[in-house]
Amino acid sequence: MDRVIKKAQTIKGEIIPPPDKSISHRAIMFASLAKGKSRIRNFLWAKDPISSLNSMKSLSVEIEITESKEIIVNGKGLSSLKEPDNVIDCGNSGTTMRLLSGILSAQPFLSILTGDDSLRYRPMRRIIKPLSLMGANIIARDDNKFPPIVIKGGPLRGINYVMPVASAQVKSAILLAGLYAKEETTVKEPYKSRDHTEKMLKNMGAHIEINDNTIKLIPKKYELNPLDITIPNDFSSACFFIAATCLVPKSELIIKQVNLNETRTGLLDTLKLMGATIEIFNLNEQAGEPVGDIFVKSSSELKGVTVQGDIIPRLIDEFPILCVLATQAEGKTVIKDAKELRAKESDRIKTMTLELKKMGVKIEEFEDGVEIEGPCKLIGTDVHSYKDHRIAMALSIAGLIAEGETKIKDSECVDISFPQFYELLEILQR
Ligand code: S3P
Repeated sequence: MDRVIKKAQTIKGEIIPPPDKSISHRAIMFASLAKGKSRIRNFLWAKDPISSLNSMKSLSVEIEITESKEIIVNGKGLSSLKEPDNVIDCGNSGTTMRLLSGILSAQPFLSILTGDDSLRYRPMRRIIKPLSLMGANIIARDDNKFPPIVIKGGPLRGINYVMPVASAQVKSAILLAGLYAKEETTVKEPYKSRDHTEKMLKNMGAHIEINDNTIKLIPKKYELNPLDITIPNDFSSACFFIAATCLVPKSELIIKQVNLNETRTGLLDTLKLMGATIEIFNLNEQAGEPVGDIFVKSSSELKGVTVQGDIIPRLIDEFPILCVLATQAEGKTVIKDAKELRAKESDRIKTMTLELKKMGVKIEEFEDGVEIEGPCKLIGTDVHSYKDHRIAMALSIAGLIAEGETKIKDSECVDISFPQFYELLEILQR
């Protein structure tokens, strides 16, 4: 479905962004492995986490959804999963596929994981390699490059693994497999990626030691305790509205109860360097994560910045919206060390370059990032989302400051992480 976006006069109000996607995936998966009844409130009812929920159901986990949309998981322990009677469809979700592969590598049965046209071309060797080193029987299409993945699980051994790229999905797959290994498992990342897995598993009683970018998991003989959590709201979804408020004149917005885990908030640091007006208040803790409210207002004098190195994993999902912000900043914005973006739901370096060029942006593509020369006047035109939710939302925000109309192709892909995105965008412009 195409969506037409018109130039906005103002963005004003208060919003509660959707629940955190990364934490929703983990909550449903880890509760399925725990022993006892877990209660999960504020789950993200969007396509990606629903893929995780359905996958756990297909592994015979008892999951009940109450009228108020709370999830009750009747966990029967680490070794309670049963062989699925069909292929598991992970949809568009890399998190579902990679985390589940870690769990299934240790189960004494056969599993086959597949996904949609995008997921079936996302790299899987990055999990197949370490899981195979742990003794897993795991193969994938095209010489282990792409899904479908076939796993005949069995006993695993612990490993000491140095990850070539910072990836929370790879780290989590290894740690989840490590729960079942005989020996301890250690993973080391070049830069720290989001740490929700370590935090949640630790809160559930797993023996985990964290030292800078190294995580050690000691398996021993224990079961995970059940969860009782209210998932905080997603910073990555909030960012589209933070950016809209910065860019649209005479705007002010309060965003409530957002997860401010510092492995996720690189865009806040970058925006402050660019000169944006953003304040955090009501700092609190929820589900073991720091949360707070964000106040943001229009920033007419943003400055270009260079973004590289260890901040990249802390804003990896915010690349598309950072590009849009950079179009309005004075001078050059350079984003480097971000080659990983080529392996997301779309090749985000290529897709943002192509589509922003159509809107009149001076943007140059490099192997590991982009350079944008701002500020530039955006021109509304027909643009593609490539069925990538974050590209659709970033281009929609660009449309709010473009002259004329911007038509976003296949805009319904926002359902992957933020089904109410367009509804909220309209409400805030009234
Ligand atoms: C995620 C990790 C990141 C991120 C993705 C969600 C997670 O991917 O881009 O949207 O929930 O673990 P990588 O681990 O591939 O960097």
